[in-house]
Parts: sequence; structure tokens; C-alpha cells
Amino acid sequence: MTVVNGENILEVQGVVVVFGGLMALSNLSFQVKKGIIKAVIGPNGAGKTTLFNVITGSFPPIKGSIRFKGRSIEHLKAHKIADRGVSRTFQTVELFGNMTVLENVMLGCHTRVPTSFMASGFRLPGAKRKEEEMRERALKILKFIGLADKFEEPADNLPLGQQKMLEIGRALATEPELICLDEPAAGLNETETYVASSLIKAINAKGITVLLVEHDMKVIMNISDEIVVLNYGQKIAEGTPEAIRNHPKVIEAYLGSEA
Ligand SMILES: Nc1ncnc2c1ncn2[C@@H]1O[C@H](COP(=O)(O)OP(=O)(O)O)[C@@H](O)[C@H]1O
Ligand SMILES: [Mg+2]
Repeated sequence: MTVVNGENILEVQGVVVVFGGLMALSNLSFQVKKGIIKAVIGPNGAGKTTLFNVITGSFPPIKGSIRFKGRSIEHLKAHKIADRGVSRTFQTVELFGNMTVLENVMLGCHTRVPTSFMASGFRLPGAKRKEEEMRERALKILKFIGLADKFEEPADNLPLGQQKMLEIGRALATEPELICLDEPAAGLNETETYVASSLIKAINAKGITVLLVEHDMKVIMNISDEIVVLNYGQKIAEGTPEAIRNHPKVIEAYLGSEA
């Protein structure tokens, strides 16, 4: 998406996360301009998922700040951060497998609606209306992600590629301004990967800023506006796909990780 101004939607400043003796994120700072697709790459164990975990409030950093639209979020619980407009998907699919495709998206429609709400048959007039609205919204999202015809299927019945799209659908249901996608193409075949890339571009074209962790370099190089590279919890490079492709530190980190 074309960026009109350089306003930052996300600012990560001096973030430190430690697990036992391990620095999973080491004084990490970078910004994400509003409206772009920014990729986070790096070898396994570099801290990419940990970064998503601190941004989305799974746990706070021990040091540093994370600002979303200029306001600190690093101290907030996950649901509050979701309410502010940040949503995510997970590296391994985390759907409710025996619930339908539609119900899975509806669960995302309001982060504070508990799972039991739909399962229990709880019906008050206001709740009923709210559920209707959620259903309409979820159906629109299913159309957008190409799964409208599967709305009644249990999520477990879908092939992995469609389950990954469904996870993205659920993340969209919270109406995010920033969506964090953790390896959306992992385990997908070439066709599914193409579908995933197209969907990410379409999401971005709606004005949603995308923070993308992905191992598939073709996907990264094709769709990102900017890339930040992590290794052992540290930023080792940042720039355009062209700049990163030939960056000596990046090449070294990747060659090292394959040894
Ligand atoms: N909850 C956790 N407890 C302990 N160690 C963790 C935890 N999460 C991640 N780590 C460790 O932190 C490092 C970064 O992990 P992660 O963020 O998952 O890397 P990436 O997503 O880049 O592969 C790894 O060494 C990993 O083993
Ligand atoms: Mg990871």
C-alpha cells in the first residue's frame, strides 16, 4: 500500500525479554509505519514469536516500551491490546477444531465474548441482536478470505492452508488496525502460499498495517515494504527487501543457522 505520510503506528523501544538466562529480545528497537507491510525475519530462535508475544500482551517486556498509535501498551493485558486495535495469528494453528468455520470467526468478533456464549444457547434480546450482527460480520469476512462456502464445516475438516486463512479471518474479526501474522505460509504448498500472499496484500490494501513473520523468502521479498532482521534477539539489519537481500550480516546469519 502507498504510504502518504511517515506516521508510525507501532514503536518498539529498547525492549528486553529474558527467559531464564536467555536474552530472547535484547534491547530491540524498531518502528512500523502506518499502512505498510513490515516483515520480521531471522533464523529459528531469533525471537520473532517472542516479539509478537510482547506486542500482543502475552507477557510484558522486562525493559523497554511498546507504543501503538503513540500510546504505551507494554503494560496492558492481551484483551486490552486487542481492544486498542492489534490482533495476531499463531505460528501453529489455534482454532476451535470442533466448532464451525463461522463460529471460529464469530469468536474473534468480540474479544470479550466468552466461548460459552455461543455454546450455551444463552438468549437475551440484546444478546440475540449482537449475535446476529456478529454473524453478518463473520460471513463478510469469510467471503473476503474465500471460505464463505465452508461456513458450516467444523474447522478441523479444513486442509491446513484453509485453517491458516481462517485464523487470519478470526484475527480480522476484531477489526484491527495492526495485524501480526506469525508464519502464515508455514506448511503450505505453493498454491496455498500464493493464496496466503494475495490475502495479506488484500488485507493491507484495506488500510490495515501488517507485521509479518515468515520463513518463505519469496513471500517476504514479494510483499513486504520493509524488513527487520533479528538474530539472537538483536536487530542485525533493517531496510527495503532489496537492501536486506544482499546485506552481509543477514547472509551470514542465515548461512550460520543452516550449518
Ligand atoms: N515461553 C518461553 N520460555 C522459555 N524460553 C522461551 C519461551 N519462548 C521462547 N523461548 C526461547 O526464546 C528464544 C526465541 O524464541 P522464539 O521467539 O520462539 O523464536 P523464533 O520465533 O524467532 O523462532 C528461543 O531460544 C526459545 O527457545
Ligand atoms: Mg516463531
